[in-house]
Parts: sequence; structure tokens; C-alpha cells
Amino acid sequence: MEVKLLGIGCSPRENSNSRMLLEVSLGKAKEKFGDKLSYKIVDLREYDIQHCLACNVCGKTKDTGEFIDCVLKNKDQTQEVLDLMREADGIAVATPVYFGMPSDLFSKFIMRTRVLRHQDFVLANRPVGVMAIAGRRSGGAETTIMSTWLPFIRNGCLIVGNGDKTCQFGTMGWAGARGAIANDEWGMEQGRQTVERIYEIASLVKAGSDALGHANPMTFCYKSGTK
Ligand SMILES: Cc1cc2nc3c(=O)[nH]c(=O)nc-3n(C[C@H](O)[C@H](O)[C@H](O)COP(=O)(O)O)c2cc1C
Repeated sequence: MEVKLLGIGCSPRENSNSRMLLEVSLGKAKEKFGDKLSYKIVDLREYDIQHCLACNVCGKTKDTGEFIDCVLKNKDQTQEVLDLMREADGIAVATPVYFGMPSDLFSKFIMRTRVLRHQDFVLANRPVGVMAIAGRRSGGAETTIMSTWLPFIRNGCLIVGNGDKTCQFGTMGWAGARGAIANDEWGMEQGRQTVERIYEIASLVKAGSDALGHANPMTFCYKSGTK
């Protein structure tokens, strides 16, 4: 059984700490798990991603339940990343800390996953772990990690931390200049742990789903939560 992981880099700059952390962490997991794991990394900065127009067209129709694409589907490149998320068994997100929050690039992108949510939670049960890189100690890595979790919870994903040994909230990297993350020994270690935790849960979900012939039972409903 091969588990597919997707790394999503959310920095707007080239050769970012976020990208490096993803590359090293996923690379180490590949070395450890060999053919049982494959991975891809995407940098959101390389895609043309427009913001959600809040037109309320995408998802599924209220009367017949027909699935409707986003009106921007063929107008930018967001769909390419959504397709990779759909194919992945687990997702690692790495974002710089901006004012104690994930990058605006992440926020802009993640709103566009609404179409997947409304189409009966396409991303359900995928484990997601977060790596946040801050320029300062106590600069907001934890608040960033928690904010990043929220849209994934809304998508029916499973949130994981860094598991091994400390079981904290994911990866809190400390780096200012590009590449400085390589000097943050504990941040790099947490990155490795976070990816291993994503892999572990993705393997269990995949094996269990295959064994049980499990189909995602989640359905999106416009009426729930409105009374
Ligand atoms: C707009 C902006 C806001 C930032 N806000 C914070 C912050 O709130 N706390 C912090 O510690 N570092 C902050 N930083 C520093 C970055 O988080 C830090 O340089 C990080 O290494 C960038 O990651 P990257 O190399 O993946 O882009 C900020 C940087 C920018 C450009």
C-alpha cells in the first residue's frame, strides 16, 4: 500500500524556510518508509490563485443536489492544487507566520476549497499537520498553527500534531532569513515528526477504509445548523 502525501508551501518568497522544511521533512519520511510513501510539494506562490468571489454558485444545488464547479475553475490555476489535495492521503501545510496568522496566500487559497466541502466533503478523513515558521521566538507560531487547522476541520479533515515524544501542536519553526530554518534543530526535528504523524494516520485511514470498503458518509446540507 502506497500512501500519498502532499506538502503545501504557503510562503510568497522563493527559497523560503517553509519550502525547505517541507522538502527536508518529507524527504526524511521517504527515506524511512521507502515505497510505502510518495510525495509531492506545491508552492502556492507558483500558481495563479484568485480570491473566492462569494458568488455562492459552487458546491451543489439546493434542489437537485447536482455538483457545480467553481465559476473560476478555468480562469486560474486553483483547480490544479485542489486536484492534488483530492488525490493525497495526507497533507502537510507549511506557512510563514504573518502577524500571528498563516500567510495571506494560504487564506486566499483555502477559501477556494469551499467547493470541495460543499460537494460532500471531498477531503474528509485526510490527516493534516501544520508547520509554522516565525521570525521570533514566541512570535505567533502556535496561533498560526491553530488558525490553519480551522478550515481543514470545516473540510472534515483530521488534525494531527507532531506525535513522537512531545505530541505538541505540529511544527513551530524559528527562522528569519531564508534558509535559517536549517539552524533550528528542534524546528527541523518537529517537521520530521509532524510528517511521520501524518503518514501514520494516513496509513491507518487508508488501510481501514480499504479493509472495510468504507465510503465517506459525510453529506453537505444547506439546512443543517440554520435552526
Ligand atoms: C508581513 C510579515 C509579517 C510577519 N509577522 C511575523 C510575526 O507575527 N511573528 C514573527 O515571529 N515573525 C513574523 N514575520 C517573519 C516571518 O514569519 C519569518 O521571516 C519566516 O521565516 C518567513 O518564512 P518563509 O521563509 O517561509 O517565508 C513576518 C514577516 C512578514 C513579511
